[in-house]
Amino acid sequence: MAEPKENLQMEKIVSLCKRRGFIFQSSEIYGGINGFWDYGPLGAELKRNVKELWWTSMIRQREDVVGLDASIIMSPLIWEASGHVSTFADLMVECPITNKRFRADQVEVQSGLIYSYSGIKGQDSVMMVEQTLEEPFSVLLTEGKNPESARKIVTQYYQQRYKQKSYQQKASLLEPTLLGERVEKEGATTRFNPENGALLSQPRPFNLMFKTHHGPVESDENIAYLRPETAQAIFAQFKNVFETSRQKVPFGIAQIGKAFRNEVTPRNYIFRSREFEQMELEFFIKPDEAVEAISGAVASVSSTGHPGEPQPNWGWQAWHQYWVEERVRFYEGIGLSRDTLGFHIQTPEELAHYARATTDILYKFPFSKRDEKGELKGEELEGIAARSDFDLSQHERFSGKSMGIFDDELRTAWGKLPKEKQDELQKRYYENRKRYLEKSGVSPEQAEKDATEDANGLAKGQYIPHVIEPSAGVDRLILALLANAFSEVTETDDKGKSETRVILKFHPRIAPIKVGVMPLLKNKPELVKKAREVRDLLRPWMNVYYDDGGSIGRRYARQDEVGTPFCVTIDFDTLGEKPELKDTVTIRHRDDGKQERLPISELLNWLLPKIR
Ligand code: GAP
Repeated sequence: MAEPKENLQMEKIVSLCKRRGFIFQSSEIYGGINGFWDYGPLGAELKRNVKELWWTSMIRQREDVVGLDASIIMSPLIWEASGHVSTFADLMVECPITNKRFRADQVEVQSGLIYSYSGIKGQDSVMMVEQTLEEPFSVLLTEGKNPESARKIVTQYYQQRYKQKSYQQKASLLEPTLLGERVEKEGATTRFNPENGALLSQPRPFNLMFKTHHGPVESDENIAYLRPETAQAIFAQFKNVFETSRQKVPFGIAQIGKAFRNEVTPRNYIFRSREFEQMELEFFIKPDEAVEAISGAVASVSSTGHPGEPQPNWGWQAWHQYWVEERVRFYEGIGLSRDTLGFHIQTPEELAHYARATTDILYKFPFSKRDEKGELKGEELEGIAARSDFDLSQHERFSGKSMGIFDDELRTAWGKLPKEKQDELQKRYYENRKRYLEKSGVSPEQAEKDATEDANGLAKGQYIPHVIEPSAGVDRLILALLANAFSEVTETDDKGKSETRVILKFHPRIAPIKVGVMPLLKNKPELVKKAREVRDLLRPWMNVYYDDGGSIGRRYARQDEVGTPFCVTIDFDTLGEKPELKDTVTIRHRDDGKQERLPISELLNWLLPKIR
């Protein structure tokens, strides 16, 4: 059967990435390790460019965002407070034959009476299974659950595994749960292993955090976790940053760094892996009651476009919309046009317990599902969540350290408000705080007491900031950029021979190599000398690749394949063969092959605005 086009495209991308040194399987020489990837020389450049552009646009080009670079391992109490220890889990089902686990939501549920099979016990069962290996699977077959190839795989797998075990182990291997006694009740729901047809266990929560220990003793007292998101360090350091950076709310703290999740089913190449990088901003804003006290009213958000420059009367909804649109602009600025993106506004059922609203920005990956019209729907690239004051409040409760701030503007404005307005705002603030506290397990009496204190604090200019969080995955973005850039051209030469070759049409800002510098011929010392001078002129400013090997056409094709937007060629005219062209070079454009001539003295200024 022909391979679906999307899969073929992914295969081509994966193969190109390996062939040209973008991405390799981690630990490949040892057979690899599932869910981990290494970035090769070009991948590392691409990734650096993406992170650098994010950092520049989110921090350096703004007055209101500062950076952080926190440790990966932090106090485990942070993960208690954030809810990750108790709730950061996927429901999983396990295969009794291969011990492989699947996310329950990714395996189709079957219902009804499945079948009943029993009688494999202890020593006898060893013999029995050996003799009747086919039988359990044939039962599955009659139920239409087990494709032919899966049955073969299971049989081989089982036989191999069986051969390797001692007699004792063989007996335990054949515990009833393995192949026998699969008794399902009428009306029960159950799942089968899509790879081998075996009956999977009932769903059980599986925490996705990688656990380790700090210090020389492995005990429960020194458990630590590899961070599953970079965000929590920002919340934990909020007070330190606020007090040292001379920022006022609204302002943000941004961080880029590794995150780790023991994903049950890492898949789609670098799309879902176990070690990945995040680029997260926590943008702290005033609660709506404070905005209303200061500005008279909170701006209403009606349109769907960019709401423009930030305004003092923006509440959380305007800020949320602002960040969604800012992030789309960022993607457009690196070559992902709006029509390659999609949006998913999370439904109340999908929202995390702390979120008021979340908009996911999607990219239409080759493997994305299609809608009824056959259009690619897209997969999450980034989530922009309005997280209320949940995170800082949790850290305040768990650490016992205040996460509230004093807002002079609010205190001054409050004093000028009529009593009814003060009461109304305080009441709303009280209700919100009480709702949060009760949801977090605080007793109703205590919640009332604490919420009253919080509402009194508001009148004095104190509150815990709310937060809008644009959270993007670096690796998913890299995959989106690769898929977006991937194109093929078929060219026919004079002799009628056709060749299909790849052009990676990266935006020049993210391209790993910005310019290829080439002497027309490598055996002409004057050309080589001049080309090296040009290389050295550009090198301090950008990643330059000097190439003098092979025909010029082949050298261009090599650069096209890795997405180099410009090639500069030094030829005999550069040396003055035509005096009017002395000290000029040819610039070749990757996407259309067009060439133009430019004086070397203008080259840098011509290139710089295009790659920044
Ligand atoms: N602090 C919020 C947070 O971490 P998330 O939706 O779980 O939210 C944010 O993750 C982004 O991190 C995702 O949109 C995605 O781009 C990236 N991401 C999450 N899990 C990932 C994984 N297993 N592999 C690669 N990227 C992942």
